[in-house]
Amino acid sequence: MGVEVSVEGLTKSFGSQNIWRDVTMTLPAGEVSALLGPSGTGKSVFLKTLIGLLHPEQGSVIIDGTDITQCSAKELYEIRKLFGVLFQDGALFGSMSLYDNIAFPLREHTKKKEDEVRDIVMEKIDLVGLAGAEDKLPGEISGGMRKRAGLARALVLDPQIILCDEPDSGLDPVRTAYISQLLIDINAQIDATILIVTHNINIARTIPDNIGMLFRKELVMFGPREQLLTSEQPVVKQFLSGDRFGPIGMSEEKDEAVQKQEEAMQAAGIGGGGTKDDFSEIIPQVQPNPGMPERKAIKRHRERVHNMLPDLPPNAQDAIRRSMAEEDRMRDEMAAHVDEQQTVAVGAGQGSGEWTSAGGDDYPGSDAPTQSWATPPAADSTTTQPIDTGRHQQPTDGRSH
Ligand SMILES: Nc1ncnc2c1ncn2[C@@H]1O[C@H](COP(=O)(O)OP(=O)(O)O)[C@@H](O)[C@H]1O
Ligand SMILES: [Mg+2]
Repeated sequence: MGVEVSVEGLTKSFGSQNIWRDVTMTLPAGEVSALLGPSGTGKSVFLKTLIGLLHPEQGSVIIDGTDITQCSAKELYEIRKLFGVLFQDGALFGSMSLYDNIAFPLREHTKKKEDEVRDIVMEKIDLVGLAGAEDKLPGEISGGMRKRAGLARALVLDPQIILCDEPDSGLDPVRTAYISQLLIDINAQIDATILIVTHNINIARTIPDNIGMLFRKELVMFGPREQLLTSEQPVVKQFLSGDRFGPIGMSEEKDEAVQKQEEAMQAAGIGGGGTKDDFSEIIPQVQPNPGMPERKAIKRHRERVHNMLPDLPPNAQDAIRRSMAEEDRMRDEMAAHVDEQQTVAVGAGQGSGEWTSAGGDDYPGSDAPTQSWATPPAADSTTTQPIDTGRHQQPTDGRSH
């Protein structure tokens, strides 16, 4: 099960340039959290600080009882084994095949024999839908495939903490939906603590259990998704609706005159280009594919949200109760559907659930994905098989629900 990552009073500068200060938050064990913020607010710097690649001036990062800002190089090396990291650009070795790239952490950090390495690498390659592309070099494949290879590499050591820096950058919306779904499925399977750094609003609104928002060198808010998705905090609200009207400007902060002008424009019915979604409702969170185990995080998360409910505004409380009821309904329906399919499909030779393309093309072809990419064909039956997932794809924009 994933471990908690507890950040307290963290401050980071480069020379005289302060990036962010006094950041305090706890990534709850086994839950999926997202850190949002406009470009250049230091999200990638934060992620690198969490794994000790960058050193903060102040504050602590406690992982498994160790403060990684203070510990020895040897301790840090050990703690790093808990992590799987997908860097913004995939960070693959250009002269190594995908296979060797993905095998790298196993060869580096374990004493596994090559046949064991092969089993693990091929399992992860299947999981991210890259079967058949293992001999290619990073330069020979598309950005989306590199991203998935980076994710496969991040998973080979069975990490308890997974950090993903902009998993969607360079991906089209459909690919983004798949990679987001994959993260939820992985969370359901291994209960890892996941942090996604992104400025993708769709991901932010449908994937994480918790959301944090960096703006003007500070963590404006961090809390359960239900809290931020119903928040009236102007920065949070503007960001999550992708609107140009609000405190977030093109470069730095807006002055009062501009804000007044915007208010006048809004009063005149002129829009700021944001989503027209109804903010009084919380979009249902993406659920694991059918056949996946239930996410253990849900129960713990619920408890936390329940405890904070009385302190939230009445409209937020109502929206949260409605969304919880809706999610329960979705889960029940999905479970019932799986039961039904299992009864029908006994011995019917279910598909492997792969989403892959042997030809190395990023797009799986016109007939795919009829089944979602999900668990690898479980030769050893340690993983569950997704069943008829085509009918149950979760919309990542949540609007068709
Ligand atoms: N190693 C570094 N040395 C100096 N400045 C850096 C370094 N890494 C990042 N920065 C600066 O930190 C700021 C935040 O960068 P980054 O974390 O990449 O933003 P984001 O990921 O939110 O878009 C930028 O102004 C960037 O120039
Ligand atoms: Mg970045």
